[in-house]
Amino acid sequence: MTTKTATEHLPKIGKVGSLMLIGAGTTVLTSKTVKSKMEELAYNPPYSLLKFLLPFILFPLLLYTRLSIPIRFAYNCFLKPFLVVSTKNGNNNEGNAHKNKLDTFYSGQADLYDNTRNQLLKGRENMLQLLAAHLKAQPEPLIRKYSSPSKNLPYNSLIPNNNGNNGDETRQKKIWVDLGGGTGWNIEKMDEYLPLTYFDAIYLIDLCEPLLEIARERIKAKGWKNVHVLCQDASNFVLPEWESGELDPRGSLRAITMSYSLSMIPPFYQLLDRCDQVLDPQRGLMGVVDFYTSRDGGNRERAIGTASKRVSWFAKWFWECWFSFDGVNLHTSRRDYLEYKMGTIKTYNARNNFLNSWFIQIPYYVFLGCSRQRDASSTLRSFKQEAGNQKGLNNAGLLTPISPFGTPPLTSPDTFNVPNLDLGPSAYGKPELQSGKQDEIILQQTLVDAGAPLSPFHYHLKNAWRVPYLEEKVHEQFRTHIYGWTWEDPAVDVKKLNINENDHILAITSAGDNVLHYALAASPARIHAVDMNPCQGHILELKLAAIQALEYNDFWLLFGEGRHPEFKKLLTTKLSPYLSSHAYAYWLSNHWQFSRNFYFRGYSGWALRLAQIAFFLSGVSNDVKKLCKATNVQEQDKIWKKRIRPVFLGKWMVKLFLGNPMFNWHALGVPQNQMNCFLQDGTVEDYIKATLDPIPKLTTLKDDNYFFLLCLNGRYTRSSCPSFLKPEGFRALKNSKSTNSLKSHTDTILNVLRGLPDGSLTKIIVMDSMDWFDPIDPNVQLPTSSSNAEDQFDSNSPEKSLEYLRSELDYEIIEMLRVLKKNGLVIWRSASKKPWYIQRFQLAGFNVNPIDIRENGKAIDRVNMYASFWKAEKIV
Ligand SMILES: C[S@@+](CC[C@H](N)C(=O)[O-])C[C@H]1O[C@@H](n2cnc3c(N)ncnc32)[C@H](O)[C@@H]1O
Repeated sequence: MTTKTATEHLPKIGKVGSLMLIGAGTTVLTSKTVKSKMEELAYNPPYSLLKFLLPFILFPLLLYTRLSIPIRFAYNCFLKPFLVVSTKNGNNNEGNAHKNKLDTFYSGQADLYDNTRNQLLKGRENMLQLLAAHLKAQPEPLIRKYSSPSKNLPYNSLIPNNNGNNGDETRQKKIWVDLGGGTGWNIEKMDEYLPLTYFDAIYLIDLCEPLLEIARERIKAKGWKNVHVLCQDASNFVLPEWESGELDPRGSLRAITMSYSLSMIPPFYQLLDRCDQVLDPQRGLMGVVDFYTSRDGGNRERAIGTASKRVSWFAKWFWECWFSFDGVNLHTSRRDYLEYKMGTIKTYNARNNFLNSWFIQIPYYVFLGCSRQRDASSTLRSFKQEAGNQKGLNNAGLLTPISPFGTPPLTSPDTFNVPNLDLGPSAYGKPELQSGKQDEIILQQTLVDAGAPLSPFHYHLKNAWRVPYLEEKVHEQFRTHIYGWTWEDPAVDVKKLNINENDHILAITSAGDNVLHYALAASPARIHAVDMNPCQGHILELKLAAIQALEYNDFWLLFGEGRHPEFKKLLTTKLSPYLSSHAYAYWLSNHWQFSRNFYFRGYSGWALRLAQIAFFLSGVSNDVKKLCKATNVQEQDKIWKKRIRPVFLGKWMVKLFLGNPMFNWHALGVPQNQMNCFLQDGTVEDYIKATLDPIPKLTTLKDDNYFFLLCLNGRYTRSSCPSFLKPEGFRALKNSKSTNSLKSHTDTILNVLRGLPDGSLTKIIVMDSMDWFDPIDPNVQLPTSSSNAEDQFDSNSPEKSLEYLRSELDYEIIEMLRVLKKNGLVIWRSASKKPWYIQRFQLAGFNVNPIDIRENGKAIDRVNMYASFWKAEKIV
């Protein structure tokens, strides 16, 4: 059975009917037709009269059915607040005045409410889906019954666990409260994502009778037995279980939601304090979606990941004024207090382009949070001990919150205890509320500061792969990823460097393919994946989350094919509990990257797209396909030499693309310093020939060389792809604990090294990043300590920060020396056969030797992109 609102009962004539009516109306209104109709009327009076009048009757009806909803909506929202003053002023107290205002505001539009709010109140479904996904992902603790009856209810009422076979087990009651729930739309939606029977009781609390009437109808029509409506002020709500003494209110709720109501409830400090006290401190989740305005983001926003929430001064002023007419308050203090009071698990900012117009972009946010008393000790330990996150620690666990009231955070463990909750005046079941007699609201300013960290990383539900980081100015440079796949051969690393389970490795993240390969092939004890571009970390996180949360076929579609028709849905419903808030927000706004082909996105995607265009224009697209399908290396070499090489290494191709610094930087991510490295050994053309010529003779693209297969084919195949993309690799990673060793840092190599203890690493694999540094005069002495290096993130300009990073090499080398164990290795590849910085490693006391140098037309690995491969051993 479905609930029908009044608007659904209005005659619906559909688009075709509307057009016919408009046509008929227009015909009638043209004078020539009117004349002929009059003549017709004279011959057949009753029938023709009806025919004549019909359009005059139907045309207004059409206008009414089409326009009545928008007109009534516009009148009630934009005109009525000015024209109609609430008449029910039985009592002057503030609570009642507010209720009367709400009743008046919604009385003429309660029946239209659901139909008119879909476009305006965006993000509600996403908030509910996030909440449902996180509730499902949380383990449900089962509590053994105690023999003593007094101990049977240790904290809150327990009920028998119906799911388990063991009759001795009990579980805590699950209650969801939707505050300012209006018509109950949220509850109906939630049923699609999580059966309502998951909850023992659901309470919809609202002050507005006309909306509650719709909610009651809905509940009756749906036959929900566990859903109850309470007409109460949300800032003071009381549940029947609390009043009857069945439940201790403190920590008794599993979920609280507020969709577009936080901005409408006047005593919001009181409201949020109450939510904090009644939410289960360990398992309670709170979902909020609302409009917001904000100008400057401070440290708090940088820690939470919402620094991008700024809106222009005009938008702030405009939306605050606009919404104030409807009693909606968008002052920043509401969201500030929410983020201060509750721990953030997920949050993101978005814009509602209401009416699909570019100029109407209402800022709104979605928030999923928890009590700040939630036990964050395991993530804290993980970040502190396993990730050596000194930077985060220096920021006191990424900033203990600063109270909006200027109260310094308390750090005493006593503050973790929930203070007594004064229930305040009860509204439940009291007829006085309706009649306007409400007890005076006692404002209880129960400011509790748990002194707990602010960052969402600390309240993350699942594996803590991502190490907390603060949003920095320099991150503004990285709006997307540079590398969609990793362009170095990890199988050669594992073999030549003997990577094994005793290793503690630091490696560059890139697209995460190599660190996943190390985890699968050798299960090292610890892998620190480091990248200062947050988007690269988001790719690694997505791969890790997908391995844990998805079935193989979905995983293959995402990273084998590079596309998934349902990515957005999977992201929120399945992947979100495994993703950090930052990564989730990034993928939500970039979900389109998987709509056609992920490998064509980001900077490296440009290279693939340009290559495809070049193949097409030069008429070798079919040969490229043949190359990808060739079954032996002889066939490959023939196609390469006869058909593709002459085009690919043609004069124009080299001039326009491969030798063009702009192309190299934007599409391939090769900076000028690296270009200088290979130019010291020859021309661009020489370099490309030395790279590509040996490849077709090495192994087949079809069955082994997945690096070049991806570049030419745009996607992997089941027989040629990274090992973690094969079914057995996927399953091995899913079932083993080897991905637990991964810690993904969003920082510079220098900063991560600074955070790690002496002698804690065995291998540092820095890919080709050494080539990127500015050359240093060999006569310059090494610095004595890396602390002399300025903190480049202090710079206000992202460009300056990047420029500064290029002079960090010496500091990195002395930190590597400190952090490596004796006989530990630094490993790199270089575009130069003998890179200039070998001298800097030797100066620091490293023993430097080549692992391989690309000579005599031989490939050093399946990518063969670099001229040499080096290791520097710590011998002191
Ligand atoms: C914009 S509506 C949102 C309704 C619903 N959550 C939704 O998403 O459709 C705001 C709701 O907050 C309710 N509200 C405002 N002040 C309230 C208060 N003090 N106590 C309870 N409800 C309140 C209003 O009655 C209204 O239903």
